[in-house]
Order: sequence, then C-alpha cells, then structure tokens
Amino acid sequence: MSGKFLTFEGGEGGGKSTQVKLLADALKQAGHSVVTTREPGGAPAAEDIRELLVSGEVDRWSPMAEVLLNYAAREMHVIKTVRPALERGDWVISDRFSDSTMAYQGYGGGIERDRIASIHSAVLGPFKPDATFILDLPVGEGLARAGRRMIKMKSNEDRFERMETDFHNRLREGFLSIAAAEPDRCKVIDARGDIDAVAKAVRTSLHDLLGVQV
Ligand code: TMP
Repeated sequence: MSGKFLTFEGGEGGGKSTQVKLLADALKQAGHSVVTTREPGGAPAAEDIRELLVSGEVDRWSPMAEVLLNYAAREMHVIKTVRPALERGDWVISDRFSDSTMAYQGYGGGIERDRIASIHSAVLGPFKPDATFILDLPVGEGLARAGRRMIKMKSNEDRFERMETDFHNRLREGFLSIAAAEPDRCKVIDARGDIDAVAKAVRTSLHDLLGVQV
C-alpha cells in the first residue's frame, strides 16, 4: 500500500514530538517506510525560516507576515521533503502543518480564515494531510510543560510560548473547531494521559480514520 501523510497538531506542550516518534516506530514495525519531519522546517531553507519565526521579540512579525513566512517554508518543505517521500511510497509524519497556521495566525492572531485558505490554495492547491491528530491540553498545563522542556533543552525557541494566555486559549479553540469541521480527517486526542495512553489513542485514531492497524 502506498504511503500516507499524517500530521500532529495542537498548542504548546502537548508532547507532539514524542508521539511522532512513537507512531513512526509502530509503522516501521508494521513494515512501512517512514519519514518524520516538522514545521516550520523540514527542509534546509525552511529551517532557515524557522529560526526567524520562533525566536526574538514577540512583536517581531505581524500575524500576516507569519502566515507568509510559514507558507514560504511550507512550500519548500513540501517540494523538498514531503512530496518526494510520498512519491516513493513512504509514509510521512509531520510535527505541525497547515492547521497550525489556521490556529495560530487565524484563530490566535486574528487573520481572516478565508484569507489563509486562499493563500493555502494558491501555494499548495488542494494538498492536505490524510489524517491529523490534534493533541489537546488545557493551556496552563501545556505552557508549563513547554517551559520545562525549553529549560531542559536550553532552547530559545519560545517566541510563541511568550504570547498572552488569551492567544493560546483562542488557538486551542481554533484547533477544536478545525477538528469539528473535518471529522473525516482530524481526531482530537486528550494529551493529559501518560505517553503510552496517548500513543494508544493515536493508533486507535489512525485505525478509525484510515483503517490502518499498527
Ligand atoms: P514547535 O514548537 O511545535 O516546533 O513549533 C514552533 C512554533 O511555531 C509553535 O509555537 C507554533 C508556531 N507555528 C505557527 O505559529 N504557525 C505555523 O504555521 C506553524 C507551522 C507553527
């Protein structure tokens, strides 16, 4: 069977990167070739744009500038990494993709949703993930977890984490609205459980959405 494009989405601190790895391991175990990747980033030029987006002053970019930078990065990510992998028949799992732009810059940053949707179709046409797992967590808990992780990793990629709590509440609601509007593509997963419980919920969701058992 040919590969599918899977994405993990959600606010800060939901444990996406851990779950990307666990699902990749499960798919490999089942005999599939898997490429894991992330946004913003996932290709050399896109990683350069990531640097610009995730560090520095909170007001460094307007929300529309963030949309455009994310779509420039996404174009390179799709051209260099995602499409070639899917054409080889590999599975691709991305830590974030276009739903993050709709949630962060649309619901969070206040850019009209149809403007973002128009930019999406201008850049990528109808291309979207086959299945999307939205790791959902109360905002306070997610920001606390993300903060601990930043300290541990000595990371300065905290420009979005430093935005106001209301911004994070809006984007959480945004992800839930996206999931409600596209139930055949998206599943919301409660990220408060332990790592194994969340991983099991992801595999169940994969089965529900695509009929694939791992
Ligand atoms: P990460 O911390 O999950 O790696 O993602 C980097 C940050 O970029 C995160 O705070 C969410 C934000 N982001 C957007 O605001 N818009 C986007 O389109 C993407 C992909 C990420």
